[in-house]
Amino acid sequence: MQAVGMRVWPNRPAVACFGQINENEPPMSLPPIMQNLRIPVIASPMFIVSNPELVIAQCKAGIVGSFPALNARPAEALAEWLDRITSELGEHNSKHPDRPAAPFAVNHIVHRSNVRLEHDLEQTVKFKVPIIITSLGAREDVYAATTAYGGITLHDIINDNFAHKAIEKGATGLIAVAAGAGGHAGATSPFALLQEIRAWFDGPVALSGAIANGGAVLAAQAAGADLAYVGSAFIATHEANAVEGYKQMIVDSNAKDILYTNAISGVHGNYLIPTLVANGLDPANMPAADKSQMSFADNRVRAWKDIWGAGQGIGAVKAVVGAAELVDRLAREYVAARARLGLRAAA
Ligand SMILES: Cc1cc2nc3c(=O)[nH]c(=O)nc-3n(C[C@H](O)[C@H](O)[C@H](O)COP(=O)(O)O)c2cc1C
Repeated sequence: MQAVGMRVWPNRPAVACFGQINENEPPMSLPPIMQNLRIPVIASPMFIVSNPELVIAQCKAGIVGSFPALNARPAEALAEWLDRITSELGEHNSKHPDRPAAPFAVNHIVHRSNVRLEHDLEQTVKFKVPIIITSLGAREDVYAATTAYGGITLHDIINDNFAHKAIEKGATGLIAVAAGAGGHAGATSPFALLQEIRAWFDGPVALSGAIANGGAVLAAQAAGADLAYVGSAFIATHEANAVEGYKQMIVDSNAKDILYTNAISGVHGNYLIPTLVANGLDPANMPAADKSQMSFADNRVRAWKDIWGAGQGIGAVKAVVGAAELVDRLAREYVAARARLGLRAAA
């Protein structure tokens, strides 16, 4: 029997809407707007890298696209970005009712050095952005303002303690940032982190950290997540706002080329070693950093332009491709992984 709501897009591999691949599976803990994705993936927000072109391509390809509000510079550009994304996805949906775009997300950095937060929140409320991702701080007013218009809020955490705080403050769900993630990352095994969270929380959870192939997306679900959160692999796409050298370094590098250090921003993160060396740093003797250095004011742009972030999963990236092609690969691998485990790929 065909699963209810199964989506098989023309000219695309026959990947059913993941939440309904098998009617015998337990119900998803996802809000309705996130149950209609092509595969269970959120493309994570990346400082500098994520722009409207990338977000629109990700959403049209059937996964949640996202960007940090701070990428729209100056602050007034945020309204233009939101207007463009909303209208292009709306046009796509009118033309292709059979394969509507996935919802998009905006990331607010909730940190005292982010002087734009109030302005940016006003804009995301005005445009009724479907999903808000908060990082570095969980704040009741951000969650209340978003849920008031029906939006969903996901907060990214690196341990169970922060997870409790975010849910107590009103976040709808969590992004568990485990070891190996690009950008600011945790150090905990994804299995340990998910099992601690799932011991008390049955709401939406995305898993972040070194997920760059469809098998790993399925593994995230098997380990207790609803969704995979994929960042670094999207740096090597035509749409990403990254110089060609950065894209090619993602293609050429493996986990061995990544260093976990707090010397760059004051908070631990994963970075491409060749860019540390090129900037006069010795990966074997990185200076210790002070958390108070962390800043989301404009001077942060320079550090991230010179020293490139990436997660440990980039060994899966073999070429710079369009974002839609990358989503096709993830979808094919996801279906193949299900088949390997004897799960039904499509009803
Ligand atoms: C270059 C880069 C920039 C990032 N910037 C942000 C950011 O501004 N806000 C945020 O919440 N996460 C940021 N992240 C982290 C991602 O949201 C996500 O946790 C991570 O990319 C997932 O791991 P992966 O890169 O191994 O797929 C960034 C990651 C990278 C690689």
